[in-house]
Amino acid sequence: MRQTIDKNNLPKHIAITMDGNGRWAKSKGKIRAFGHKNGVKAVREATEYATEIGIKYLTLYAFSTENWNRPKHEVNALMALLVSAIKKETATLMKNNIKLISIGEIDCLPSKAKQELSDAINKTKNNTALTLVLALSYSGRWEIINSVKNIIKDKVAVENINESLFKQYLTTKNVPDPELLIRTSGEYRISNFLLWQIAYSELYFTDTMWPDFTKKELEKAILNYQNRDRRFGKTNEQSQN
Ligand code: IPE
Ligand code: IPE
Ligand code: MG
Repeated sequence: MRQTIDKNNLPKHIAITMDGNGRWAKSKGKIRAFGHKNGVKAVREATEYATEIGIKYLTLYAFSTENWNRPKHEVNALMALLVSAIKKETATLMKNNIKLISIGEIDCLPSKAKQELSDAINKTKNNTALTLVLALSYSGRWEIINSVKNIIKDKVAVENINESLFKQYLTTKNVPDPELLIRTSGEYRISNFLLWQIAYSELYFTDTMWPDFTKKELEKAILNYQNRDRRFGKTNEQSQN
């Protein structure tokens, strides 16, 4: 069992379902929005740590298609937070050579959020260290249906449809599949995240609520990943060769 991170065996892509902001706030006698606000600090921690150790892609599930069904005031608070966080953090993204991209139905976002997001994406587009992928108004089923629609629109011949063609139609076409998927807050479900891409991801669940997810917690998750045997359907003996 390794006790320290092996820099030669890092996941290229880590995806995180940042869950538990509301419960974290409630446990402190505060409103849910307070949890979301503190969740931004954890985003900063995870992004910093991923950059420090040389992770190439970090995808953060920030708002799902289903989250539109939350009370209007909570949706509004989340959208306002998105705008202020992007505004505040763009300079740091530039300083740390981080490229921001987004996946999801961005057209559904309020115009202010869309504008801030596209400005930040544009500003950071030539950065080359970490690619930070924000999943916003995202769901895996939406993405798959969307891909199918576009394949049909493009009149792709049936014999040309295969996994690599399909990948070209996903919002993550330029992003490798995540080797590691983390979910915080003690929930053991996928909640419509990256359904196609996680076919062979290692899953890591922790009881820690997202606002308490520190660099140390991310290090723990990566270490746990590095102690796994990834077999991809082969036998144990084959996969160790
Ligand atoms: C995750 O925290 C943030 C979003 C889904 C936007 P939650 O808001 O889901 O917090 P809990 O799960 O209710 O504690
Ligand atoms: C998943 O969390 C979505 C995000 C973290 C953005 P939810 O809190 O919305 O998921 P469920 O409802 O518990 O499955
Ligand atoms: Mg939740």
